[in-house]
Amino acid sequence: MTGRRFFIDTDTATDDAVALIMALRQPDIDVIGISIVAGNCSVEQATQNALYVRELVGSSVPVHVGADAPLIRALETADHIHGVDGMGDIGLPLHGRIPDSHRGVQAMIDAIMDHPGEVELITIGPLTNLALALKLEPGIVDAVKRVVVMGGAAVLPGNVTPLAEFNFWADPEAAHIVANSGLHFEMAGWDISMAHAVIDDELAAELQSLGELGGFAVGIQAVLREFCRENTDRDGFDLPDPLAMAIAIDPAMVTRESERFVDVIHGDGPARGMTIVHEHGAPGREPNCRVIYEVDRERFVALLRGAMQA
Ligand code: RIB
Ligand code: CA
Repeated sequence: MTGRRFFIDTDTATDDAVALIMALRQPDIDVIGISIVAGNCSVEQATQNALYVRELVGSSVPVHVGADAPLIRALETADHIHGVDGMGDIGLPLHGRIPDSHRGVQAMIDAIMDHPGEVELITIGPLTNLALALKLEPGIVDAVKRVVVMGGAAVLPGNVTPLAEFNFWADPEAAHIVANSGLHFEMAGWDISMAHAVIDDELAAELQSLGELGGFAVGIQAVLREFCRENTDRDGFDLPDPLAMAIAIDPAMVTRESERFVDVIHGDGPARGMTIVHEHGAPGREPNCRVIYEVDRERFVALLRGAMQA
């Protein structure tokens, strides 16, 4: 083992792919497993996308297929953001690769329980797999070293609705279970992605110039870039999962945070998936979350550049 042990749970699409490259190419990080969850695209497509990225960086990390739908509701994908294939619909050969198992939830449990106190879990998709893992093995709560979650919004608006971010909205019951499981997690929400992880065309061109991986990382953002151009005031594309991965790799890049009790609204209705940050405490509830409000963008960009360097 080289150093730190990461286990990553992902609904592999355009930003997840960049986050996977960052982790897999980080010298002091040993990614001991990847579990796939349905979200941006089907679990089958997300699996193929993760296997493609694994091959691209020359990794042999085990990839395990997990939940193919949210806990109690139908899957609603994000084709309009990531493309039908989840990777920008640029014609990549995203088929025919074989995952290591179809037991993604058990793989997450085994990775954490086999190495108590050592595994850092990074989730960059809906929390379906983690919720199931916590139900099957509550011992995760004490055995996992650290949990970094890309999800939620400590400061509104969200992205799917004004009140909710996609990962928490896609499976709000799972997010609610995780928030009330006793697990402590670090929340890298949509708000910090908007504030610190929008890649403008100048930086995108620089990343592309770094070589094959930079060209891939930017090329697959084609549908997202167009979506942002047509529907938002964002001058570029956003990379929420890579920002969460950067925080996982370099926790000290966080410049403003607080320990709070955080919950997630489940069920249907306008508040579906909404993040509730109890800024003034919640009676009888201990803080369960390192709420991240600001990061050092330059440290994020430096990690991104480093991962894309040929
Ligand atoms: O809201 C952003 C999150 O939803 C990211 O994880 C992105 O990949 C999508 O899953
Ligand atoms: Ca994701």
